[in-house]
Amino acid sequence: MLNFEIHNPTKIVFGKDQLSKLAQYISNATDSKKILLAYGGGSAEKIGLLDKIRTELHDFEIIEFGGIEANPEFDTLMQAVEVCRTRNIGFILAVGGGSVIDGVKFISGAINYAGDPWEVLLREEGKVFTSAVPFGSVLTIPATGSEANSGAVISRSSLKEKRTMGEPLFFPVFSFLDPTVVATLPKRQLANGITDAFMHTLEQYLTYPTANLLQEREAEAVLSTLIEIAPKVLENPADYEAAANLMWCANHALNGNLRCGVPTDWSTHMIGHELTALYGIDHAQSLAIICPRLFEVKFENKKAKLEQYGKRVWHLTGDNVAGEAIAKTESFFHSLGIKTHISDYTSEGKDAAQIIKARFAERQWIAMGERQDLTLDEVEKIVTNAQ
Ligand code: NZQ
Ligand code: ZN
Repeated sequence: MLNFEIHNPTKIVFGKDQLSKLAQYISNATDSKKILLAYGGGSAEKIGLLDKIRTELHDFEIIEFGGIEANPEFDTLMQAVEVCRTRNIGFILAVGGGSVIDGVKFISGAINYAGDPWEVLLREEGKVFTSAVPFGSVLTIPATGSEANSGAVISRSSLKEKRTMGEPLFFPVFSFLDPTVVATLPKRQLANGITDAFMHTLEQYLTYPTANLLQEREAEAVLSTLIEIAPKVLENPADYEAAANLMWCANHALNGNLRCGVPTDWSTHMIGHELTALYGIDHAQSLAIICPRLFEVKFENKKAKLEQYGKRVWHLTGDNVAGEAIAKTESFFHSLGIKTHISDYTSEGKDAAQIIKARFAERQWIAMGERQDLTLDEVEKIVTNAQ
């Protein structure tokens, strides 16, 4: 088992009708009465959630900032940073999915940053956020696990860039996870959420067999549970128990637990982010495009684990369990209505492989994967095969 450290300070408040605790939990985190209420493009208003929150927070001075996009935009977030600075905001409440929560992580770090925060996202030498205004979240879509981790992904479409950030500073103080929100999600977002949670688990599991038997089986438990509940959630998103399982799986998939003591391979995410940055393909769709092709290109590296996955998760037998496990994974995405080729989403993606290879070369991203051996030529091949 590899050495590891884990500390996840986020309080999870799981279940329905919990919002009466919101004001108290904010007061526990700050002496300030000035709260930025941050949300996305309108869904939280439409489902009545914002009104409930406004009512619960009547003792606070609420400054609202709506319009944070899916794949949150640097320029929009900088406007929120300005509002926080001029209004002296003491706490930020994110109401939304991964995009709003990620956006709030960035805002909370950028408020007291003296330079141009874009340099932090570019990971320039010595450029880091060193403080964060406290924030919490009310989750509206189970998918990213952002509600219980310290990472964020910020887009800058004017530059066709999508960059990651992450520091222990950026754990939410608390997150409210109410599975009843699942009933309001369009099918596309349900499918995206299931796929993203599935892929977060695979990226921390589908490497090589390890000695951390507990973590191996926890990952398999998340994958098996998602496979079991996915058709139920799609058929009836108002099925509370199925929705609750989805929300808890998505949380577990990226709350830091699955990575303990095991190697990880985040290459599907890193290549997928480029497809979103270049062509606006949804995050989860980009992962479903890359994952099966990456498993094929890195087949020999991953064969032993693909066999374990095929046997334990898909109950496969025979002489080609590893190959069939890839096919099962791709059919699972198809069963959710998610297509797995670039050309299914855009006609502009013909040069994707060359562009992504060049970007990775420029950034010196030449040692990805669980064995740090994913070459630029392999990245090009994966994306070419994903056409
Ligand atoms: O903007 P609104 O109107 O709120 O609509 C949103 C958005 O259009 C809608 N939605 C959310 N809750 C809803 C709802 N519609 C109806 N009813 C509800 N209850 O869903 C759309 C997508 O929302 P978004 O927040 O973008 O989805 P998701 O949670 O999948 O987040 C995706 C973002 O998270 C990043 C992705 O790259 C992407 O930018 N990720 C963040 C990670 C992290 N911080 O750990 C890890 C992930 O791998 C991922 O990269
Ligand atoms: Zn993801």
